[in-house]
Amino acid sequence: MHERTGRVIYFDHAATSWPKPPATTAAMVEYAERIGGSPGRSGHHLSLAAGRVILEAREALAALFGIGDALRVVFTKNATEALNIVLLGLLRPGDHVLASGMEHNSVMRPLRHLENQGVSLTIVPCDGAGLLDPDDVRRAVEPRSRLLVVTHASNVTGTIQPVSALGCIAREHGLLLCVDAAQTAGALPIDVEKMGIDLLAFSGHKSLFGPQGTGGLYIREDLEGLIRPLMFGGTGSRSEHEAQPEFLPDRYESGTPNTIGIAGLGAGAGFVLAEGVDRIRRREEELTARFLAGAASLPGIKVFGPPGTAGRTAVVSFQIDDVAPSTAALTLDEEFGILCRPGLHCSPAAHRTIGTFPRGTIRFGFGYFNRDQEVDQALTAIRAIAGR
Ligand SMILES: Cc1ncc(COP(=O)(O)O)c(C=O)c1O
Repeated sequence: MHERTGRVIYFDHAATSWPKPPATTAAMVEYAERIGGSPGRSGHHLSLAAGRVILEAREALAALFGIGDALRVVFTKNATEALNIVLLGLLRPGDHVLASGMEHNSVMRPLRHLENQGVSLTIVPCDGAGLLDPDDVRRAVEPRSRLLVVTHASNVTGTIQPVSALGCIAREHGLLLCVDAAQTAGALPIDVEKMGIDLLAFSGHKSLFGPQGTGGLYIREDLEGLIRPLMFGGTGSRSEHEAQPEFLPDRYESGTPNTIGIAGLGAGAGFVLAEGVDRIRRREEELTARFLAGAASLPGIKVFGPPGTAGRTAVVSFQIDDVAPSTAALTLDEEFGILCRPGLHCSPAAHRTIGTFPRGTIRFGFGYFNRDQEVDQALTAIRAIAGR
């Protein structure tokens, strides 16, 4: 809390969104106080009510991502778990995988682990603004290539990758396309069919306005036979069998789920559907444009990533002269009540691509509920820090 104003300016939506819409909290309280049962397990009316909460959340997410069958949405605890299911479950020694030079460590670390197990990896470089050229991807495909994994938008620069073009390349070459939508689910339009996405990993706690501990994975039909689950166990279904169910979502949802979190996620996704992704996107673009225009006139400020707002989400990385990003972020927090994230943002590859490794940047991630005035206050604060 800022000691003079009594409020904070929250620009860390790229890490996790806050505050959540009231509907998210209300759905969690409703579950905690009035439902409480274990979904798909016991058969009494509170267990059935819990099952309905989960199904409604699946349906909201399916509607948001153009998924025809909601049962193909698997709940996970975050995007990282969803990405691990795909990468560790699908790739075998001898396979080749392609990824971009802007990947988060939630992709890079499983891939580096798999490299040690005999999977080969090509990182297709991006330009200085973090953009991937689909022709470079096409040229990097090998006969043993099995998967292309790419972040939909960078958590460092906001750079939006040409996913539909990548979907076409994947289809042409018989690859699977896995999209890391941690930064874009709820913030940009996503249609898995139209964009040719086979596997979509998403966070529930960022632009979908769910609580932390939620995320998910869409798996296109017929792929579950290829993807070994990370976890095996009770699903409440087919209890007579000791073998893991082969059908979705149960194949990848062992153990009692995070029902209270999924209740919140379902309400968050419902909020996004009701507001409309296009409207949310327009508002976030306005905030980003306001910041970019203001930052352009500040001496000593260097902004990274695409020049305008069209090719980026509401994420902006910048440096202030020779002020260390961690020092700047601390000053923004302690003196101005502005909350952001400095450093490498779990994405050393992206920082190498844009030339900010190992120093890192200050990252502002704007959100739908931010106000113009907050952006203006931040610009004033940055000017003051730069002028010291
Ligand atoms: C691009 C990207 N991928 C993956 C992740 C991991 O998401 P989660 O925290 O939901 O596991 C993040 C979160 O910061 C991200 O920004």
